[in-house]
Amino acid sequence: TKAVFPVAGLGTRFLPATKAIPKEMLPVIDKPLIEYAVEEAVLAGIKEIIFITSHTKRAIEDHFDQNFELEEKLLNSGKDDYLEKINRTIFQDVKFTYVRQKNQRGLGDAILHAEHLIQDEAFAVLLADDLILNDPSCTSQLISAFEKNHCSVIGVNEVPQEQTSKYGVISGNKVDHEKATFLLNDIVEKPQNNPPSNLAVVGRYVLTKSVFGYLQNLAPSVGNEVQLTDAIKLMIQDETVVGYLYEGQKFDCGSRHGYVNAIKYLADNLLDD
Ligand code: G1P
Repeated sequence: TKAVFPVAGLGTRFLPATKAIPKEMLPVIDKPLIEYAVEEAVLAGIKEIIFITSHTKRAIEDHFDQNFELEEKLLNSGKDDYLEKINRTIFQDVKFTYVRQKNQRGLGDAILHAEHLIQDEAFAVLLADDLILNDPSCTSQLISAFEKNHCSVIGVNEVPQEQTSKYGVISGNKVDHEKATFLLNDIVEKPQNNPPSNLAVVGRYVLTKSVFGYLQNLAPSVGNEVQLTDAIKLMIQDETVVGYLYEGQKFDCGSRHGYVNAIKYLADNLLDD
């Protein structure tokens, strides 16, 4: 029922657009990027969204809060139709929680900031940069895989060999009964050579609480950041973790190409004006 959204990153690749606004607030057509992933989580049954944020990301808090003044103005000018856009029914019963990550020490460190909010339960992690379109959503597919396998599940997709150095890469054997499920036996963050396979980690995870134990005291590695991948590598020595080859179309909105492709795809497929 809980999902962690690390959103403290700087968004350097989109400067100067991200000088004064968070990269997560960049619009993909008329909705900020972050709302696609929050929507995906909520429609998959998530009841609490935990943002790991920073002082430059206040616009995200405002976006998921109520804006009474705007609502009032829309009502008074007969533009009631827009109310659902800014105060969505699906978010009504969702709790939004914010934790500040003072120093950006990496994805693993960001996740660790949610430890005190997670009880004895598995939780989802969504990296909003990866916009993934599908019904059922990628998060729903991972939750189903979690319910079937009772262990941490990592979303993976196949990428060309030459692109493996941009991602976490797993290796694993297919679980007999499920064509899309791989029992992890290795995971490496952004391998520069000899990637263990062409199965790349995408920004969707369902993790058991035990991951926090592995994240504590973890030394920074690739990019001088504390890597979630390193914690998972330790985790698989003690417990089962599976990779799940999800169905869906992914756009890497952390890159300009991916971002433009997402907008183009949605414009071609969804817009009627
Ligand atoms: C992060 C993870 C990486 C994963 C990727 C998916 O990397 O560290 O393992 O493959 O997200 O988007 P980042 O893109 O933040 O460098």
